[in-house]
Amino acid sequence: MPVETLLKLIKQNSGKLTPMIKTSTSLLLILITSLMGGEATLINSGNRHITNLNGEWNYIVDPYENGYYNYRYEAFDQQTHPGKGAFFNNSKPADKTDLVEYDFDKSDVIYVPGDWNSQKEKLFYYEGSVWYKKSFDYKKANSRNRVFVRFGAVNYQADVYLNGEKLGTHVGGFTPFNYEVTNLLKDVDNFLVLKVDNKRHKEAVPTLNTDWWNYGGITRDVIIVEEAPTFIDDYLIQLNPENDQQIKGFIQLNGVESENQRIRLRIPQLGINKKVKTGATGRATFSYKIKNLRRWSPKTPHLYDVTLNYGDQTLGDRIGFRSIETRDSNILLNGKKIFLKGISIHEENPLRGGRAYSPEDAELLLNWAKNLGCNYVRLAHYPHNEYMVRLADEMGIMVWEEIPVYWTIDWNNPDTYKNAENQLTEVIQRDKNRSSVIIWSMANETPTSPRRHEFLGKLATHARGLDPTRLISAALEQSTDPNDPMVKYISDEFADVVDVLSFNEYIGWYDGTHEKCQKISWNITQNKPVIISEFGAGAKYGFHGDKLTRWSEEYQNEVYVETLKMLDKIPQLSGVSPWILADFRSPRRPLPDIQDGWNRKGLISDKGEKKQAFFTLQAYFKAKGD
Ligand code: GCU
Repeated sequence: MPVETLLKLIKQNSGKLTPMIKTSTSLLLILITSLMGGEATLINSGNRHITNLNGEWNYIVDPYENGYYNYRYEAFDQQTHPGKGAFFNNSKPADKTDLVEYDFDKSDVIYVPGDWNSQKEKLFYYEGSVWYKKSFDYKKANSRNRVFVRFGAVNYQADVYLNGEKLGTHVGGFTPFNYEVTNLLKDVDNFLVLKVDNKRHKEAVPTLNTDWWNYGGITRDVIIVEEAPTFIDDYLIQLNPENDQQIKGFIQLNGVESENQRIRLRIPQLGINKKVKTGATGRATFSYKIKNLRRWSPKTPHLYDVTLNYGDQTLGDRIGFRSIETRDSNILLNGKKIFLKGISIHEENPLRGGRAYSPEDAELLLNWAKNLGCNYVRLAHYPHNEYMVRLADEMGIMVWEEIPVYWTIDWNNPDTYKNAENQLTEVIQRDKNRSSVIIWSMANETPTSPRRHEFLGKLATHARGLDPTRLISAALEQSTDPNDPMVKYISDEFADVVDVLSFNEYIGWYDGTHEKCQKISWNITQNKPVIISEFGAGAKYGFHGDKLTRWSEEYQNEVYVETLKMLDKIPQLSGVSPWILADFRSPRRPLPDIQDGWNRKGLISDKGEKKQAFFTLQAYFKAKGD
């Protein structure tokens, strides 16, 4: 009998059980649930009862994966007795005669969170498997509690083990995941081991080729989360998109006693102090009329303190309330037309030359954007860490979030689609209460085909099913009019699906020089808002020449001057997010003395120096007004 059926039967008949049997039954239920390794969302994990496992971890570089496969290339974790060769057993010699050919505790250490490329010179170009190990003691606050281990992100595939037991495998380098470890945890000497593999694959998401550095590692926080046997696992608390005088949403419990439970929802500044009751699936839905709402916006990024209470649990969050919609070719924030004064950003701290992962990194990047005059950022080309979107909430910066469906994805592979859809699910689950997030992007510069259209269409449907409150977009394909080389238009059939049209254009860089901008006209026929999701040019900071000297700051600046004039002629223009805030590492950019492994389209150099074009864009945004 499937465990879920057993659980249901016990719950349905618990009334007929004697108190003694009832108590042992509920303990049995807790045991079964935790043995089931309860799937958990653990939204807003940072505000829960957590223990941080960040810091120094031992690591072993394993290019032949001999810590995972035996010499017959059979996976150790598929064997009943994997033996001491399996690195996830963290083995030690039993005595002086014993043979063990690895030792985590005698191996080098690396910092978590963080990519290995920028931390270890010998791993700068490494693509393969690295084993990580963290030893820790853990005493539960209450013996009945449940415990999870959660990862902010691991790029690209993580095989996770605790005390020699496999917890699972996660694929996708930019979204959070967790495993229940209630039954595996010991008070002392736990060892958490991961095999992290950042090899690129044709069927992966992203696929083999990208224009960014393939940073490998445990690139975001690792935490232990302790929860009561039944706890608040997930919630949506947003303005009702159909009625902006209403807050609506749901609260989801996780645990065996999740039915007919009462949860208190408080939003004091809105006078909300309500008890909601869960149904059979442990979910409570609600909608409440509100008045005198202070809506979130770039000018007034007001966040409300929200508190959820269940049993002796209190979970707090800070949530902004705003509406976002399109009407004809306009984007309306809180019912008013808004122009998105944006910039594209990679998740990289250029001063460190590595993956960004911390609140300080988020402050560096978003303060640069704020200084530029932005009210919007495009977080390219994958979900960034949660600090970025939470800080954007606080700073009043609207956000485009994107999954790495980038360039030549393997459209015909069902596993590739499942992977992309899972990454979309995980980022929407994490950020659905963030008022700063206004757009979910399904893709970037993907070649059109029937299978690509089907793939992206399914993703858009999935996103709208999970979250009908935000806009859908993608960096679409554009074409040149066959009858007139100076006329461009959006030729992408996905334009019919998205709410906001977006495309990348590089006239003046990949397509002629900036003088061409004056001759081009954009013939966009769709009556939808248009965001130019990328334009730009490369420049080495401090390299000067005339306006036609490529790689000079003057050339880059002239591309901005001429492009902005050209784009302002597009009637539907509702925003821009030029490429890109700061220079970033890319293996595609080897030009000595200019690129040296960096994409130089940043408005800011890898040393934090502002190029001429920074000030041109800043002036353009200033002239656009609020
Ligand atoms: C493309 C792509 C970016 C890339 C940029 C460039 O538009 O979307 O990821 O970095 O062009 O060529 O610099």
